[in-house]
Amino acid sequence: MATVQRHLDHPFRRPVAEHSRRAFDELASVLAADSRPRVLDSGCGTGASTLRLAPLHADAVVIGVDKSAQRLGIGQRQAKAADAPRNMLLLRCDLVDFWLLAAAARWRFTQQYLLYPNPWPKPEHLQRRWAAHPVLPSLLACGGQLELRTNWKIYAQEWSAALGLAGISAALDCCDEVTQPDLTPFEAKYRASGHVLWRVRADAAKAAAAA
Ligand SMILES: C[S@@+](CC[C@H](N)C(=O)[O-])C[C@H]1O[C@@H](n2cnc3c(N)ncnc32)[C@H](O)[C@@H]1O
Repeated sequence: MATVQRHLDHPFRRPVAEHSRRAFDELASVLAADSRPRVLDSGCGTGASTLRLAPLHADAVVIGVDKSAQRLGIGQRQAKAADAPRNMLLLRCDLVDFWLLAAAARWRFTQQYLLYPNPWPKPEHLQRRWAAHPVLPSLLACGGQLELRTNWKIYAQEWSAALGLAGISAALDCCDEVTQPDLTPFEAKYRASGHVLWRVRADAAKAAAAA
């Protein structure tokens, strides 16, 4: 928790990669005249979850971000299908850069989903987990209702504790209450294998207003 507090106290000053800035700027220009609320599906993989979230947030634009060109390629083909929702966009970008750029541009999301992020379970990788990552303050500055899902209880508990340190109260529950149908391919895979699925929900709107 000392790590989280350090990140909350000290702004993360890593320079943003040029290709990330270009990707973000392109998205910003597409959205410049779009006054709809913005929903973020971070680490969207193939974009299957973005595709499912779009109709659930029909008044918003749902933005799926992932760094994997290969996974996004699958999603982009699906997003171009005639019956795909019109209110979704997929962006290839590193999320660390994306959150830094979005926070600096004072973007506010109404909802941010973090669905089955890479767990990075080794102790030496603690700071790669979003709860202990130096980008956390920027993520929180982007605000909105936060929803994390994971099959690793410790990840959910760490996320919940980190939010608590940031002054955001969080609700942690388990899979029985997680909605069906499965929101993501990883959710489907874990559920089929009998894993317990964990969800943490929190409201970061106040944190964003104070940022
Ligand atoms: C375990 S997969 C989950 C994918 C999807 N959310 C799901 O539940 O099916 C994690 C995803 O996060 C993406 N990812 C991990 N770190 C990232 C980063 N720094 N920037 C962007 N995407 C990242 C990976 O490329 C991968 O697609």
